[in-house]
Amino acid sequence: MKKYLVIGNPIEHSLSPELHNFWIKENNLDAIYEKRKLNEDALIDLFDEIKKKNIAGVNVTVPFKRAVISHLDQLSFESEKTQSVNTIILENNKLVGHNTDIEGFERSIQDFNVETKDKKVLILGAGGVVPSIIFALNKMKVSEIIICNRTKNKAESLKDLFKNIKIVEWGETPEFDIIINATSLGLKNEDEINLDISKIGKNKFFYDVIYKPSETNFLKLGKKLGNKTQNGKLMFIYQALGAFKIWHGIQPKINKEAIKILD
Ligand code: ATR
Repeated sequence: MKKYLVIGNPIEHSLSPELHNFWIKENNLDAIYEKRKLNEDALIDLFDEIKKKNIAGVNVTVPFKRAVISHLDQLSFESEKTQSVNTIILENNKLVGHNTDIEGFERSIQDFNVETKDKKVLILGAGGVVPSIIFALNKMKVSEIIICNRTKNKAESLKDLFKNIKIVEWGETPEFDIIINATSLGLKNEDEINLDISKIGKNKFFYDVIYKPSETNFLKLGKKLGNKTQNGKLMFIYQALGAFKIWHGIQPKINKEAIKILD
């Protein structure tokens, strides 16, 4: 039986095992997917286990998407450009890193038929998933990407990867067509992002990477102001689907049952 893992810290709340095991069962594969909480110094042993073929593949989540890179032999083009890896596979005895967060974000937006070409995008946050979102937005030909993060330095350092981004102070709200919450603010029901967006007008698109709770206060506010909203559920499903395809060569179905796993 092949074993797959998601690693992170914390990891308790990850729903990746439920989703992958559902697809494993649906496709009659002889495999199991588990979660493992670890510290950075345990990465060496983990990669040893993969090289010994005790583990067939690994998903990577916060805070290791960048830290795993120094342990890998090869990176996909997207992982290289974002310095971010969420899926690892052993290929011809080489540890290869992929990034399926990009397609996760892109496909989730496409499913909602949101126009992105020549749109102005404001991203809140500069954490692990933001390079993937920027990469996807550039692919989708947006006109401007503005980053706003509590710790401005962290936003500034994204310029090493992407020259075309603009940085503003936390709390500043420049004009936008699309606003994305990529901070962890919203994971708790009572979390508020104190943004003055009362004068932004209608017909904007509010996207939250968070999918639990399914409607953060950020999305509630967007809706109240008369805008389209979307949570990160489909992004999560599509990134998992991308990893599944890399490991098993099968594109699983996204049906009601799969979506319900994340409710
Ligand atoms: P990491 O930063 O380790 O990659 P993450 O969950 O990917 O972790 O990112 C958390 C994001 O939420 C960061 O952009 C963080 O801002 P800082 O860079 O200033 O830490 C943001 N964040 C978390 N708590 C916040 C808060 N109370 N107010 C504003 N931003 C917050």
